[in-house]
Amino acid sequence: MIETKQWRVDPEAADLEQDPQILAAAEGIKNGEVVAFPTETVYGLGANAKSREACLKIFEAKGRPSDNPLIVHVATFEDVREICTDINPIARKLAEAFWPGPMTLVLPSRGEVSDAVTAGLSTVAVRMPDHPVARALIRAAGVPIAAPSANSSGRPSPTRAEHVVNDLNGKIYGIVDGGETGVGVESTVVDCTTTPVTILRPGGISREQLTEVIGLVASDPAMVRSDQTPKAPGMKYRHYAPEAMMYLVPGGKERITELVKNEKENGRRVGVLTTEEHLNSYPRADIVLSCGKRAEPESVAHSLFAVLREFDKRKVDVIYSETFSETGIGKAIMNRLSKAASGRVIE
Ligand code: TXA
Ligand code: MG
Repeated sequence: MIETKQWRVDPEAADLEQDPQILAAAEGIKNGEVVAFPTETVYGLGANAKSREACLKIFEAKGRPSDNPLIVHVATFEDVREICTDINPIARKLAEAFWPGPMTLVLPSRGEVSDAVTAGLSTVAVRMPDHPVARALIRAAGVPIAAPSANSSGRPSPTRAEHVVNDLNGKIYGIVDGGETGVGVESTVVDCTTTPVTILRPGGISREQLTEVIGLVASDPAMVRSDQTPKAPGMKYRHYAPEAMMYLVPGGKERITELVKNEKENGRRVGVLTTEEHLNSYPRADIVLSCGKRAEPESVAHSLFAVLREFDKRKVDVIYSETFSETGIGKAIMNRLSKAASGRVIE
């Protein structure tokens, strides 16, 4: 156990790059330590991407399989050129349209970052985050920062500093607390080494948004077919799972009500994951939690992981979840829910 430091930072403060809290966290990164920090998607667990030793500490703290590469976070286009050999015209178009923002590009690696980051692949995943604290930290550290989501491997990604504390306190050097994150689901991972480019993980930038800028976009077949090996190694692992057995129920309110009734007859403690619109629709369930407004899918993405963690706190035996339309950010929401449920669907 080490004593994990905590730095509280107001993301709206001026001159964040000079903030003593940010400077202390940046000092940690420079010295080869791992530090959790907020991005606009989820909290990341960062280390100097050029140091193998520092990056290995990330894998150890999270219990992350070593074949799962990390995303490198940068502050400028100059940084991207240093890390990647070839930023083709399509990748450039995407970067100009969506960076800084919740999109990660997989590009050919120049070999500048540690092989612990790329897990030995010839490509590297790069992202320019759109969060003032993340940007200030990268600039102050003066190095690209490799960072996966700052949860223990398999758990829901953290959207608040307290989630990071729950998972990693005593295992990491420090946490920059910049409040709640915005988007709530991770970045869209786009492989730019294929023609057309391929979405490896749906996320904060939707397929529709990508298409509007570059036209043709493919999807990794593993996103729809379970017999395919995903090209993003992280997509093959169990992830986001709450402790209780979770099921997706496309049948909606009526079907869930029936399932709740059955479970209660068997004496089980039942949770329902719903939205504001249906918060009062499940009087027999023990715990009913809303993850936002169905009419505003961004609000659902924002709260999803916090709600999954809340079910763990409230100790239920089973969770039934409503489902969402897979358009726009709905695609990322359904991807995370489906993984949280380990693919269990009650048709
Ligand atoms: O929003 C996000 O992307 C957050 C914040 C912290 O930036 N990060 C994040 O990292 O979600 P992580 O490690 O939880 O997910 C990264 C995903 C994994 O599925 C990994 O396998 C994939 O990106 N990935 C990383 N490098 C890759 C590469 N070179 N080729 C293919 N997939 C890659
Ligand atoms: Mg993750």
